Amino acid sequence: MQIIDTKKFQSDLLDWYDNEKRDLPWRRERDPYRIWVSEIMLQQTKVDTVIPYYERFLTKFPTLEALADADEEDVLKAWEGLGYYSRARNLHQAVKEVRDDYNGIVPSTEKEIAALKGVGPYTAGAVLSIAYNVPAPAVDGNVMRVLSRIFSIYDDIAKPASRKKFEAITRDLLPENRAGDYTQALMELGAVVCLPRKPACLLCPVAEHCSARKEGVQEFLPVKAKKKAPRSVQLSVGVVRDSRGRYLVEKRPDTGLLAGMWQFPHSEEGLDGLPAVDESSWENLTQIRHVFSHLVWEMDVYQTVHDVQKLEKAQQLLTVDELKQKAFPVSHQKIIALLEES
Ligand code: ADE
Repeated sequence: MQIIDTKKFQSDLLDWYDNEKRDLPWRRERDPYRIWVSEIMLQQTKVDTVIPYYERFLTKFPTLEALADADEEDVLKAWEGLGYYSRARNLHQAVKEVRDDYNGIVPSTEKEIAALKGVGPYTAGAVLSIAYNVPAPAVDGNVMRVLSRIFSIYDDIAKPASRKKFEAITRDLLPENRAGDYTQALMELGAVVCLPRKPACLLCPVAEHCSARKEGVQEFLPVKAKKKAPRSVQLSVGVVRDSRGRYLVEKRPDTGLLAGMWQFPHSEEGLDGLPAVDESSWENLTQIRHVFSHLVWEMDVYQTVHDVQKLEKAQQLLTVDELKQKAFPVSHQKIIALLEES
C-alpha cells in the first residue's frame, strides 16, 4: 500500500468539504438522535429519496422520547415506501433501550452504541463521529470506493473481511479534532466526485494523493463481486371486498420480510392459497412486479366480493380510508391506489 502524507490529505479533504459540502438537513443538526435517524435512513437509500422522509419523520417524532413512546405501527407508517423496514423496527427498539438504559442520552462509546439494536459498525462510527466528534471509522460503500482508489486496494469490497481492512485504514486516517467533518467529507467525495463509473478526477481535492489515478486504474476500482440475480416468486393476491365496502387485510408476522406490515392476503400456491371463496368468482384486477434486493415478487392480483364469516387473528376488515392509515408495502399501496380510483 502506498504511503500518503496523512496531514496534507486530511487538510486537502477538509478544506474542500468546508467550501463545497451540500447543504443537507442533517448537517444542520447537532442532536445525536437526529443524526442517528439520518444515518439509518441513508443506508441503502439515496440522499434525494431520504430528505422528505427525514423531515416528515422528525416532524412526527421530534425527540428520542417521542419515537420511543410511539406505536410501532405509526413508526412503520412514517417509514412506508422507504424500504428495508427492519431498519425502522430496529431503530424503534434501540431508542427504547436508550430511553430506558441511558436516560434518553445516545451513548458516546463504541462499545455501548454498537450494542444497540440495528447499530452495526458503520452506524456506530457515523453517529459517534458526526454527533460526538469521536474518532471512530464509518465505512460504507462510498468510503470503500474512495479508499480503494487512494491506495489501489484490489480486495473485493463485497466481502466482510474487506470492510475490516478499510475500517483499520480509515481509523489511521482520522484527524484528532474534526472526526465528524472528516467522516462526512469522505462520504461526500464518494457521492459527488469519486463516482462509481466516471470519477471526476479533475475536480478531486485529493487527486494528488491518489494511487489509482497515478496508475490510471481508477475506473477499474473498487473490485466488487457481482450479486446473484434476485430470486423470483410468483404470488397470487386476493382483494376481498365485503358488501359494506370493506376490504380483508392481514398483518404480516413479527419477523422476516416486511415484518409487522399490512397486506392483502397472498399465496404462493395460486388461488388455492387465498381466502376460501367460490374460485370462479375471482376476477383479474392487475399484475404488479416488485423488486427487493434479493427477491422479485411477480404478483397476479385478483378481486372478488364476498362476506367473510370469520376473521383470522391477524386479519381485519377495513375501508379504504382506514387502509390508508396502516403501513403497506409499496406493491400493496399500488393496489390501494387502484381501489381508490374505482
Ligand atoms: N450517506 C451516509 N451518511 C451520509 C451523510 N451524513 N451525508 C451524506 N450522505 C451520507
